[in-house]
Amino acid sequence: MKPWQENRRETKNFFLKKQEKGLSLNASPWTTLAVGKELQNLVIDGIIKEGMVAMDIGCGIGIETMYLAKQGLMATGVDFMPKTIETAKEIAKLSEANADFICDDFIEMDLEKYNGKFNLVIDQGCFHHIPVSERMNYAERVYSLLFDDGIFFLRGFSDQMLPSPTNDGPIRLTSDAIIDTFSKFFFIEKLYRFKNIPLPNSNKPQIFWAFLGKKRI
Ligand SMILES: C[S@@+](CC[C@H](N)C(=O)[O-])C[C@H]1O[C@@H](n2cnc3c(N)ncnc32)[C@H](O)[C@@H]1O
Repeated sequence: MKPWQENRRETKNFFLKKQEKGLSLNASPWTTLAVGKELQNLVIDGIIKEGMVAMDIGCGIGIETMYLAKQGLMATGVDFMPKTIETAKEIAKLSEANADFICDDFIEMDLEKYNGKFNLVIDQGCFHHIPVSERMNYAERVYSLLFDDGIFFLRGFSDQMLPSPTNDGPIRLTSDAIIDTFSKFFFIEKLYRFKNIPLPNSNKPQIFWAFLGKKRI
């Protein structure tokens, strides 16, 4: 593993270095500007509904946060990259999406005023950056944010994705890693692999896990 995969401060440096290059798609290759179809399916199936309160962890420029806001949810995105959050706020203003954005590190931020206030927490592409040693902390934090009937929807790189040529990039997740981290806190409603939207600068398939958990009470 690379240092930044084992230590969150290094993770932040990894992202900040990308940010120094600006927010072009090449510097932030995950910025597809698209809402994941797996998230849309939860809206189509009525699992995610108008009136819910949602947090999007590692929201990037907030495309999915704004999508949830446009679906009638009260949506808040959290990301620790300042310029990314500035961009999210600008897009929200232009698109008149009623979404809030917080610039903070999800693992360290003070959650006291947020605890027990959310029906839904989503994460696309943040958890797979969380060092293994911090995973349980992450899971406990998500758990504490949710109402008793709250749900958590995670999407992250699966072990069917090849490592990048330089072997950096997000940690590839096994189903065991997801189950070991989250089953203490959540009933497993869904756990499946899916092909995610191809990145703008790559023709390699993106094979993700989707995990839908219902809070254990
Ligand atoms: C791969 S991007 C995904 C962005 C967005 N969810 C999307 O699907 O387009 C991962 C994001 O997680 C953020 N991130 C990683 N670790 C974080 C942490 N501990 N706290 C807050 N944000 C974090 C990064 O800054 C980055 O914007």
